[in-house]
Amino acid sequence: MKARIVTLPGDGVGPEVLDAAVAVLHAVAERSGHTFEFESHLIGGCAIDATGEPLPAATLEACKKADAVFLGAVGGPKWSDPQAKVRPEQGLLAIRAALGVYANLRPLQVHPSLASLSPLKNEKLKNVDVLFVRELTGGAYFGAKTRTTDTATDECKYTVAEVERVTRRAFELARERRQHVTSVDKANVLETSRLWRSTVTRVAAEYPDVKLEHQLVDSMAMLLLTQPSRYDVVVTENLFGDILTDEAAALAGSLGLLPSASLGEGKIGLYEPIHGSAPDIAGQGVANPLGAILSAALLLRHSLDLDVEATTIEAAVSHVLTNGPHTRDIGGKAGTADVRDAVIAALDDVATPAFLSGL
Ligand code: NAD
Ligand code: IPM
Ligand code: MN
Repeated sequence: MKARIVTLPGDGVGPEVLDAAVAVLHAVAERSGHTFEFESHLIGGCAIDATGEPLPAATLEACKKADAVFLGAVGGPKWSDPQAKVRPEQGLLAIRAALGVYANLRPLQVHPSLASLSPLKNEKLKNVDVLFVRELTGGAYFGAKTRTTDTATDECKYTVAEVERVTRRAFELARERRQHVTSVDKANVLETSRLWRSTVTRVAAEYPDVKLEHQLVDSMAMLLLTQPSRYDVVVTENLFGDILTDEAAALAGSLGLLPSASLGEGKIGLYEPIHGSAPDIAGQGVANPLGAILSAALLLRHSLDLDVEATTIEAAVSHVLTNGPHTRDIGGKAGTADVRDAVIAALDDVATPAFLSGL
């Protein structure tokens, strides 16, 4: 098959991890006979420097024509002045909104060889397999903002339709997993959360085969650490999902390991590791590329229907987590390029006949 992928490297470690993941996609193409065409565009701080805008029109246009969009990370101290009129992160929010990718899937699994890196006892990490479904195009991120010298506001707004569509996505995904959805809100305080809870409860009635439970976000932050293996699909609003998934990454051993897929109604998805531009390690060639490489697997699965190829990348990553090399964040000494090369080499160790024939 032939696919057009727009890459948005962005800032900091974004280009470093994206380059590694694109190299893995090239290696997959070579072995399986597919053709992936890549076209790189500006987003974030580098786009502000070049054009004055965090999402230039040419970038947006290219993304809308692509089969999938693959992003590194945006932001950094250079563009983080609180008085700045324009910020890199606005580019990311704008592309999410423009592509209509309202469901952000953030899977969490704990690889056995990394369990000792987690602050939790090993036995708590057995059978941890959570799929966060974070609402991505609503809530406080997209409400009206005001600022005077001494007051600032961020409106948090959700419509029933916005909650319904992400809830349906979560229940559909739960059907393919362990048939359990946990909806996280703050319904004891927030009106948006009360609308969220009543909508989720109503939609859940369409899925009698899936069990629903509600959890308040503050206690969920605790339960995620004390009983992580209890959870299957966790659906929540934009800001809560942002925070809970960085917390979840600590269970896996590093923020650098978690991938994401952002999906809407069409096939165009936006794929990105959940971490940021990591300014503290940018430019050193030591960033962990595995979150980006696992995002490439999600891209193949969700936008290109290449499930065998996606599973092969995931198996190669697992092979590297078991055998090394590892970057610093997970206790090793290897650089980004070493891990990239090891994943590519592992593709051959884990390849099946179906993978090699491009089925
Ligand atoms: P961050 O995710 O960039 O970094 C947090 C910590 O995790 C740092 O110590 C960093 O070194 C480490 N880390 C992150 N990714 C890593 C990797 N691949 N390998 C090894 N270590 C890794 O979060 P931050 O420091 O709070 O934010 C920095 C900038 O990134 C901010 O401007 C923020 O807005 C932006 N950001 C962008 C995205 C995105 O583009 N999707 C996501 C989160 C944050
Ligand atoms: C993420 C990031 C973004 C978010 C920022 C950079 C806008 O933290 O993708 O998790 O909050 O959604
Ligand atoms: Mn985040």
